[in-house]
Amino acid sequence: MARTTTQFVCSACGAVYKKWAGHCEACGGWNTIHEEAALSASGPAKKTLGASRGKGMALSSLAETEAPLPRTVSGIGELDRVLGGGLVPASVVLVGGDPGIGKSTLLLQAAAAFAGAGVKTIYVSGEEAAGQVRMRAQRLGLGAAPVSLAAETNLRDILTTLDAERPGFVIIDSIQTMWADHVESAPGSVSQVRAASHELTSFAKRRGISVVLVGHVTKDGQIAGPRVIEHMVDTVLYFEGERGHQYRILRAVKNRFGPADEIGVFEMTGAGLAEVLNPSELFLSERDRPASGSVVFAGIEGTRPLLVEIQALVAPSTLATPRRQTVGWDGGRLSMILAVLEARCGVTFGGLDVYLNVAGGMRVSEPAADLAVAAAILSSRQDVPIPTDTVVFGEISLSGALRPVSQADQRLKEAAKLGFAAAIAPSQMKLQGESGITVQRIDDLAGFVETTFGAVE
Ligand code: TYD
Ligand code: MG
Repeated sequence: MARTTTQFVCSACGAVYKKWAGHCEACGGWNTIHEEAALSASGPAKKTLGASRGKGMALSSLAETEAPLPRTVSGIGELDRVLGGGLVPASVVLVGGDPGIGKSTLLLQAAAAFAGAGVKTIYVSGEEAAGQVRMRAQRLGLGAAPVSLAAETNLRDILTTLDAERPGFVIIDSIQTMWADHVESAPGSVSQVRAASHELTSFAKRRGISVVLVGHVTKDGQIAGPRVIEHMVDTVLYFEGERGHQYRILRAVKNRFGPADEIGVFEMTGAGLAEVLNPSELFLSERDRPASGSVVFAGIEGTRPLLVEIQALVAPSTLATPRRQTVGWDGGRLSMILAVLEARCGVTFGGLDVYLNVAGGMRVSEPAADLAVAAAILSSRQDVPIPTDTVVFGEISLSGALRPVSQADQRLKEAAKLGFAAAIAPSQMKLQGESGITVQRIDDLAGFVETTFGAVE
């Protein structure tokens, strides 16, 4: 029987097809499907797994006590927190991000920090020559750190070296340059990235080595992105930032050893990445005099409160279909808030462009920002500034009612710490402590519009 020896794989999401197509049905990507050799040309050896019996597995009960995970801290607090309190032995961490965002810089600093904490550390660069990495290390003032360097892409050689050296911590920069010689396809293809990650992951688990895999996020789809290996690793961190801004956010999107949604904030300086210890101050530092359309949202990122400025601009439109543009906030959620304002509060946006921006390149995904977004839009539309000493939070439901949000105390405490005096928040929220902040409690959006902006037409 003839077997197909090639398959067509989407480089963005990894979906497999028998035939080539220009459009991936699974992820919606265009021109992302490429021909690749199938993993095994002859198929599985046995027809069904039942044909020959395997070994019995050892089963254990849930009641057995497990020692707490021994973690190594690097001393870079923002990194340790995102990892869930330090690096766990035998864990595999994927650090994804756009090219040039600072992944290599961050991991070189992490390598030096962990090596300084007494962990035997190896940095394998598949992208840069050892000399280049060394030069960067010296520029960062890390020339004396006891990190071993290698410039290598052959996975077999890397595993052999790791086997002999027995390090505690290994950085693979990047997974897309690794080449496993038992897989017949080019480095960076889905099969190679998957095979290399699989080999490294199982090696790490067997030998108790912590591994960080660096993965480039690719927009053009020619190279397999970190997405295709997210399920294999223990922790997935994305390193984000805006080109024009100096700071970078390390965000945990998956963590088997700690909370997801945790963020670490760094600033890119001439001497590498510096920790930002009070990010709220940073995100609010660019604020100036009271202006309409600007509102401070008291948010929570992971386990930490974070204040960010939300800016809106509502302006007459010259287009038949007015613009709805967002940066750092979900466009669908903006449409929903505009619809609620129209339907429940009688505020119309026909013929008006609406722009929404989360200042400083931050990305907000909490529904708790709904009220702050609505307040910013109304403030701009009516040209009525919201007082600069006021923070806003609350989730808006489709009925126009305000829903309480979690961790209200923490939000208020952070606001008080940064010198805010008042808050606009849902009336139903439960407060445990006293924050010293005067809270204006809101039941529904229509009431808020009336009290704050009067009769809107
Ligand atoms: P890099 O870590 O090489 O990015 P990645 O590995 O994600 O591709 O970072 C590259 C950028 O960082 C580059 O544009 C220069 C900048 N940079 C600094 O601003 N300061 C520094 O100390 C270093 C090492 C890099
Ligand atoms: Mg790099």
